[in-house]
Amino acid sequence: MKRLILMALIGLGLFGRLFAGEGMWIPMLLKQLNEKEMQAMGMRITADDIYSLNHSSLKDAIVLFGRGCTGEIVSDQGLLLTNHHCGFGQIQKHSSVEHDYLTNGFWAMNRAEELPNPGLTVTMLVKMEDVTQAVLGGLDPGLTEAQRAAKIAENIKILVDLAKKETDLDVSVRAFYHGNQYFMIFNQIFKDIRLVGAPPSNIGKFGGDTDNWMWPRHTGDFSVFRIYVGKDGKPAEYHPDNVPYKPAYHLPVSLKGVTEGDFTFVFGYPARTNEYLPSDAIRLIAEASNPQKIKLRETRLAIFKKYSANDSRVRIQYADKDAGVANGWKKMIGESKGIRRLDGVGRKQDFEARFEKWAESNAETREKYAGLLNAFKTNYKEIEKYTLAADYITECGLGIELIRFASQFRPMVDEANKAAQDTKKIKEFAEKLQSATAAFFKDYYQPIDYEVANALMLIYLDQQPENFRPDFVNEVQQKFKGDVKKWSDYLFGKSVFLSPEKIKSLLEEANPKKIKSLTKDPAYQYYVSLANFYETQVRKPMQALTASNDSLQRLYMQAQMEMNPEKRFYPDANFTLRVAYGKVEGFSPADAVYYEYYTSLKGIMEKENPLVYDYVVEPKLKELYQQHDFGEYADASGELRVAFAASNHTTGGNSGSPVLNADGQMVGLNFDRCWEGTMSDLMYDPQMSRNITVDIRYVLFIMDKFAGARHLVDEMTIVR
Ligand code: ARG
Ligand code: ASP
Repeated sequence: MKRLILMALIGLGLFGRLFAGEGMWIPMLLKQLNEKEMQAMGMRITADDIYSLNHSSLKDAIVLFGRGCTGEIVSDQGLLLTNHHCGFGQIQKHSSVEHDYLTNGFWAMNRAEELPNPGLTVTMLVKMEDVTQAVLGGLDPGLTEAQRAAKIAENIKILVDLAKKETDLDVSVRAFYHGNQYFMIFNQIFKDIRLVGAPPSNIGKFGGDTDNWMWPRHTGDFSVFRIYVGKDGKPAEYHPDNVPYKPAYHLPVSLKGVTEGDFTFVFGYPARTNEYLPSDAIRLIAEASNPQKIKLRETRLAIFKKYSANDSRVRIQYADKDAGVANGWKKMIGESKGIRRLDGVGRKQDFEARFEKWAESNAETREKYAGLLNAFKTNYKEIEKYTLAADYITECGLGIELIRFASQFRPMVDEANKAAQDTKKIKEFAEKLQSATAAFFKDYYQPIDYEVANALMLIYLDQQPENFRPDFVNEVQQKFKGDVKKWSDYLFGKSVFLSPEKIKSLLEEANPKKIKSLTKDPAYQYYVSLANFYETQVRKPMQALTASNDSLQRLYMQAQMEMNPEKRFYPDANFTLRVAYGKVEGFSPADAVYYEYYTSLKGIMEKENPLVYDYVVEPKLKELYQQHDFGEYADASGELRVAFAASNHTTGGNSGSPVLNADGQMVGLNFDRCWEGTMSDLMYDPQMSRNITVDIRYVLFIMDKFAGARHLVDEMTIVR
């Protein structure tokens, strides 16, 4: 690997011409790989200002928010910004019909009003080290894949155990470049994170799922939290006496805005990309798996919508679930379309033809790489049917909330079924399940789930081959003569998991005998049948294939780097901290259409429609618009900008990431991508791939002018 990086470095001279926004780079390697280019594009700070171990740097202000988003610290009092859709779960949990923070927004006017969020964490990278040599060095090339993996796991464990003796930080080792390079990551984890503010959904989710994944966009997608620590300044569990965290660095916030062509970069936690897959994998995702999942999700979404439209209680209950299902649904549509438009499969095949030629070109590469693509082909052909079956398990089987709820009880019921039960363990399980149960019933509306179960089961029966379905699905035909309604009436009529009182008292009592009786509950049995099917018919048979693919992918990655020694490769996203950079720019999504790079409040008024939930405009916002009361947040022409588009390469997990200008000042919060470019997780397209950012001036305007929370703006370091 050292050699590969060296080769990448030799290629440095060529970068200027090749670059087109693509790439998610490792902060620690910016100096070697990217600094020169970033500065040529306009950056006025150094790689060292972004990531340094010797002094405070931008990285000290960037965090992983929860488990799926990014956040950033913007004051010396631990004030944190992320997206509204990232804080959505928390906002929703604090909401009820009486205190509907989703609809009305929430603003703590002082520290005492800030709301704790049990379970929510914020993770901050302290440092990372290249440990490739220690993990891979000395591996016998004669090892089988399984032996090799075991040896690597062993090496990692030794390294981690050793490191843990010296630090109380969280330590882990992560694979990069599909197992060609390894880094040790040292993290600090904060556990007392309080909700400070959120705009009403009419602002934070303006445009809803209609505008989601699309440009032009007018969403004020932000929420505000604060990190608290113990009195000793160290991370601690929630305690009323905890104090705001004093960070080593917090981001300055610029009111100067951006214009077309400006350099920007995004600093955050992209979750997963797959840029180096073979054509067979791309085809499987874009042509087979996505279309199937899209259809299954449409069924659920239509039912959610029907019940939410006229019932505000149900709408609140299902807001978070609906957003999650809809988000993936729309992303998959965009991704498959984008791959088709780019002829992604064809492009990969062209590359593969060149690759084969190269691999055959000399004895050394032939020995290492010939046959690699054929092996992929054989594997993916086999994998397809398992992938599609797994899609049905997650989208169809676990799409029924009742069955998913029952699944959470499995460890406890398993324990109760043991000959020598551990009653203490059972008690512990029961205790944990109490809060999960309360959360489930708070947001559960049985008529929706009943209708979903009926609809999904019909599709399951119709679409999946009889010899390749969980037993309980076949039971519908055998026991219920194919009458899906009879089946669901039985399930919903019989299951004790639908009775909050019974489940509650069962958990309070934690009587092993009674818990054991859940084994006979139909919802529980259906879950067990689903899980058994997955285990025996999908996961097990697929195990060898996945392992084989992993090692093929590792080799293929290495081979691609060897074949293109002058190309600079970035590792696929793996939920580690990365820097992406590009320019503020519009794009042309279709023939004769050009999208400008920014949107403004005027556009919100254009979209206004009091009859459509997604486009209702807050009266106060309208008033501010009519009075043109934008304060210092207007641009030079007096307009209030809302969002902008840029060519930074981002993906899921980058939501909430700061978008920074040439001076490393925050100019916005990343929250989405343009639909035409969403295949960037598999194939980035410089023409179409754009990230969407809410302009920080709109964020501050909403806090200050709309919500009257000027004290939060005053807490920040504002660059005027
Ligand atoms: N598409 C964005 C992302 O993937 C935002 C999702 C939240 N918004 C929504 N309307 N569901 O996370
Ligand atoms: N909206 C995504 C997120 O939540 C970002 C993206 O996929 O572009 O991370």
